[in-house]
Amino acid sequence: MTTASAPGKIILFGEHAVVYGRPALAAPVAQVHADVEVLDSDSAGIWINAPDIDLHAELNTLPSDHPLAAVIHNLFFIARTSPFPSGREVRGEGRFPNLNIQISSTIPVASGLGSGAAVTVALTRALSAHIHYPMTDEEINAFAYEIEKLYHGTPSGIDNTVVTYAKPVYFIKGQPIETFKVGAPFTIVIGDTGIRAPTKESVGDVRKLWEADKARWEKIFAEMEDISFAARHVIKEGWIEMLGALMDENHALLQQLTVSSPDLDRLFSAAHKAGALGAKLSGGGRGGNIIALVEAGQAEAVASSLNQAGAKHTIITTIS
Ligand code: MEV
Repeated sequence: MTTASAPGKIILFGEHAVVYGRPALAAPVAQVHADVEVLDSDSAGIWINAPDIDLHAELNTLPSDHPLAAVIHNLFFIARTSPFPSGREVRGEGRFPNLNIQISSTIPVASGLGSGAAVTVALTRALSAHIHYPMTDEEINAFAYEIEKLYHGTPSGIDNTVVTYAKPVYFIKGQPIETFKVGAPFTIVIGDTGIRAPTKESVGDVRKLWEADKARWEKIFAEMEDISFAARHVIKEGWIEMLGALMDENHALLQQLTVSSPDLDRLFSAAHKAGALGAKLSGGGRGGNIIALVEAGQAEAVASSLNQAGAKHTIITTIS
């Protein structure tokens, strides 16, 4: 049996602008994760069990554009066509081996927490190890980015990067991965609207806006860039109160970008009423999550205020 796991993620600053080459900051959320087990099997075929999405199927019965099928087909293709690491061979070459793949995830789907990227990374890790085709994190990240592109149109690559490396990142599309320093750990409460909003749609809608008036939206992206740049410095210095103000500013720009929603704004206000230092939506928007920055002692009160305002669930996490 081979197992692998990958965490969820939150975007702290710079979502959407990051698709247009601006920097963004993101961090892993270990409290939610995707877990994959791969076992050899006596039954013919590759069986996939993913109870969280109500899936129990043999690979060949899935449409070829199914995200899990795409990971498996593409991985086998690469493993068979690329030079093997010395001394190793892909087991069952010439045909797919018989496997039983168990996928479980505590990351809500389409909620902005990187569920798709986490499942892709965990599955790639477990499967590549199982077929004796070890991949470096760099290779897994590049592979996961290709899979993200199949399903998310024009992703920046931030989700697969944070999830693969499980580290906070200061991310600029196409540039080498940079992590960021955290001068003083800070506490974030994540509040889920429960509204599933595929990133592909909000990213696609933002692209339409941008194409219709590039100058206007580039100005907004430039403001987001300034915020991400300042946030990296503020986090490094541990000036947490200033970070809250930057989150509020970033949220206001995301509202202008039309990716907030009444539910997200209600949770934003509820977090503030309960004493959060700042808040913003996180990820693609339209639904999904808000994140609220809190003093550690206030996390429970803010989480409870979010629940009263309609959050379907909350997570308290520390960025350190
Ligand atoms: C999604 O987590 C973040 C977005 O900026 C999309 C992307 O970067 O690919 C909305």
